[in-house]
Amino acid sequence: MRILVTGGAGYIGSHVVKMLGEKGCEVLTYDNLSTGNRWAVLHGDLVVADLGDADGLGRVLRTFKPGAVMHFAAAIVVPESVRDPLKYYGNNTVNTYNLLRAMREHGVHRFVFSSTAAVYGLARGIPITEESHLNPINPYGTSKMMTEMVLKDLSFADSRFRYVSLRYFNVAGADPAGKIGQAYKDATHLITRAVKTAKGEFPRLQIYGTDYPTPDGTCIRDYIHVNDLAEAHILALEYLGEQDLSEIFNLGYGHGYSVLEVVEAARKVTGIDFPVEETGRREGDPPSLVADSTRAKRELGWRPRYDNLEFIIKTAWEWEGRLAREIRGTS
Ligand code: UFG
Repeated sequence: MRILVTGGAGYIGSHVVKMLGEKGCEVLTYDNLSTGNRWAVLHGDLVVADLGDADGLGRVLRTFKPGAVMHFAAAIVVPESVRDPLKYYGNNTVNTYNLLRAMREHGVHRFVFSSTAAVYGLARGIPITEESHLNPINPYGTSKMMTEMVLKDLSFADSRFRYVSLRYFNVAGADPAGKIGQAYKDATHLITRAVKTAKGEFPRLQIYGTDYPTPDGTCIRDYIHVNDLAEAHILALEYLGEQDLSEIFNLGYGHGYSVLEVVEAARKVTGIDFPVEETGRREGDPPSLVADSTRAKRELGWRPRYDNLEFIIKTAWEWEGRLAREIRGTS
């Protein structure tokens, strides 16, 4: 099968592109390289273009003729979305709309969408099922929720159009094979910041808020290894091929760790007692996000393999050691 992957040069997209290649799919990555890297595309060709470029996008769909589109390209940093909401509504909501229009014009009707646990925001119950009330508390979550609404209406209006929306919880770690991992210039994610601090890139790790309504006062997240997440995308594609249905799936392990627990695990894995500093809350952070992924296990047959926080951190730590070399060597 031929798959167009937007954002395939980014962190999660590149892991999925690699896995698609290993499964024998023909892949084309469409990425503007704003946060992605050329070297991260380990399978298929890369078209460097923006989703705002309707002509370029149309050309790619016309010539490559994908059977499905997997859409990763997005802005994903919660605090940045609070500071710059238009970037998020533009990159995430408007650009997805552009993509869906172009797909319809060119007769492509299968879509896998990178959604997020941020759509739940202040969740009323933990763990969170897909039926939970959507209550995003930052523009990032709202931008993704709006796109999910568009997808739902589109699938209702056009019986040919089918989608799977995957609501990611906190994706972390790197491919254990070692060639790809997270490589943002200004990494903000907790596990990445922790291993970079251990490596000496930052003098200390800041802990954003210790007065949340959680057992130790810091936020709780459900950290999921990027390869387990990538595997769910392959299953989502199969689902779209087999079922005449659209569906939404949570992807997490069903248990959370506080920021302090992550710090402790990162110190243990790296063997470095890096300094931390407790600071005030970061804007837009919900206290707790933990997935109920029963539906993904039941409907997709998803069987996560790396449900182990220390292993996730270990792969992130090993990747940090290779990152500078990777960027110097092949960019
Ligand atoms: N945190 C710190 N210090 C840091 C970085 C993070 O204390 O240096 C805290 C945050 O305040 C938060 C937790 O660690 O409480 C996790 O923060 P991340 O930045 O790692 O991740 P987020 O939960 O903000 O967001 C991530 C993705 C989103 C996704 C969300 C789903 O970036 O795309 O997980 O839960 F929607």
